[in-house]
Amino acid sequence: MFVVTVLSVIVFVLMLTLWATKRQKKKSINPIPGPDPLPVIGSLHLLGEHETPFEAFTALSKIYGDIFSITMGSTPCVVVNNFDLIKEVLITKGGDFGGRPDFMRFHKLFGGNRNNSLALCDWSVLQKTRRSIARTYCSPRFTSLQYAAVNTVGSNELEAFMGELQKFPVNKPVDIKPVVLGACANMFMQYMCSTRFSYEDKDFKKLVRDFDEIFWEINQGYAVDFLPWLLPMYSKHMNKLSQWAADIREFILARIVQDHINTLDYHAPPRDFTDALLIHLQEDPNMEWQHIIFELEDFIGGHSAIGNLVMMILASVVKYPRVAKKIQEEVDNVTQGKRYVNMFDKAAMPYTEAVLWETLRKSSSPIVPHVATTDTEIQGSPIKRGTMVFLNNYDLNLSAQYWDEPEKFMPERFLSSTGNVVKPAHFIPFSTGKRTCIGQRLVQCFSFIIVSTLLQNYNLSAASEVKLKPGCVAVPPDCFKLILTPRHINPN
Ligand code: HEM
Repeated sequence: MFVVTVLSVIVFVLMLTLWATKRQKKKSINPIPGPDPLPVIGSLHLLGEHETPFEAFTALSKIYGDIFSITMGSTPCVVVNNFDLIKEVLITKGGDFGGRPDFMRFHKLFGGNRNNSLALCDWSVLQKTRRSIARTYCSPRFTSLQYAAVNTVGSNELEAFMGELQKFPVNKPVDIKPVVLGACANMFMQYMCSTRFSYEDKDFKKLVRDFDEIFWEINQGYAVDFLPWLLPMYSKHMNKLSQWAADIREFILARIVQDHINTLDYHAPPRDFTDALLIHLQEDPNMEWQHIIFELEDFIGGHSAIGNLVMMILASVVKYPRVAKKIQEEVDNVTQGKRYVNMFDKAAMPYTEAVLWETLRKSSSPIVPHVATTDTEIQGSPIKRGTMVFLNNYDLNLSAQYWDEPEKFMPERFLSSTGNVVKPAHFIPFSTGKRTCIGQRLVQCFSFIIVSTLLQNYNLSAASEVKLKPGCVAVPPDCFKLILTPRHINPN
């Protein structure tokens, strides 16, 4: 009897070991379904069949399910397509997915090392510190002194902005993007660096253009990102990226940072974000000169994102005159035509805010891909370290599963029956979790006053149809022109 029992135990243990080994083997061959990759290019050809990669991801999810694997070149990737999966990657397992893609273009833009960049670096203790320094300045709370400061610099710049627009011929198509970007850049410069520049300053104009080129660039995808052996064919392009970055650095050091260093009182409270970074450099042995300069550049560069968003809002305004009319009704009502709008008016102008959200929903800017920094899993499916994860918020923003008539531009969908702004939980244009966008409050504040003031003073129309690239929150540096017709309201 004893022998039988021992034998049974041995057989049981053996079977258990066999089962565990089989399970382990099964795990290692990645059970997540997906298209079979071709040699060399993987499944890149499948993306080429659609206008944007995210449309391709949505189409593939209909075949393979809400989570599927895909090989880009030789990089193993996973695409997650519903809100629960996206939350698992960004929130529940945010710590496992804190890496970013290792694209050569990203290195070129950030002094040879993408970890210099806040948005494109892998998660690290340094990144935690950099985010916390930035939070006070870039995520000001509504009732804080910082919010009041944002309001002051924004309001001050509006007058100069309007002055520039008045220089354009009326009723003729004009390129207002450089002026919109110039206004955003000056708002950022005043807020973060306590300085501003003339719209005529040729070096400032070049700086604004370089930042805009970079913003367009990082919103594009290239085959070389996944096929690095194509690099020699891109050498001219890569040199252009490095040159933009070098020119930006030269301007920021000579025209902003030097003066701060000369006048900084290390014992007084920081005058602005630039001071805060310089003080941190002195106090924190883990911070280096490169870290703070790249951080400053990254945040100043945030103005391009806002300028581009403003252009996208204006594209909807000219396409849907009813939208323009409603914003004008709100701004006229709040200001009575007697003053410019300010950031404290936002609460009384919910429709205008809703237009911002609807623009972000329709444009559906992709969330920067995340990368697994450890072996982990998503809903029980194993994910190997180094796997790139695409969060398909394009589907989240444009699927009938989440929205009524998702193809329609309807800002009203963000308004409650009592007229307040409401955003569903699954709407995450700035992402969520530990790498969520730090600049989202600045985006809301500055884009709000710029769009409202433009429409307070002008009726806008387009000379020809304005087409935007889907799944992209950038418009090309040279983009559509607009016709400005003054409304003959003098707010001052
Ligand atoms: C239209 C405007 C903007 C949109 C739609 C946007 C959206 C996003 C998204 C989706 C991410 C990725 C988050 C993730 O990977 O989970 C991000 C990251 C980031 N954004 Fe924004 N953003 C905008 C403007 C700005 C501005 C104006 C700033 C700075 C003032 C800024 C600073 C950052 C930074 C630093 C990160 C990286 C955070 C990290 O990886 O730890 N963004 N943004």
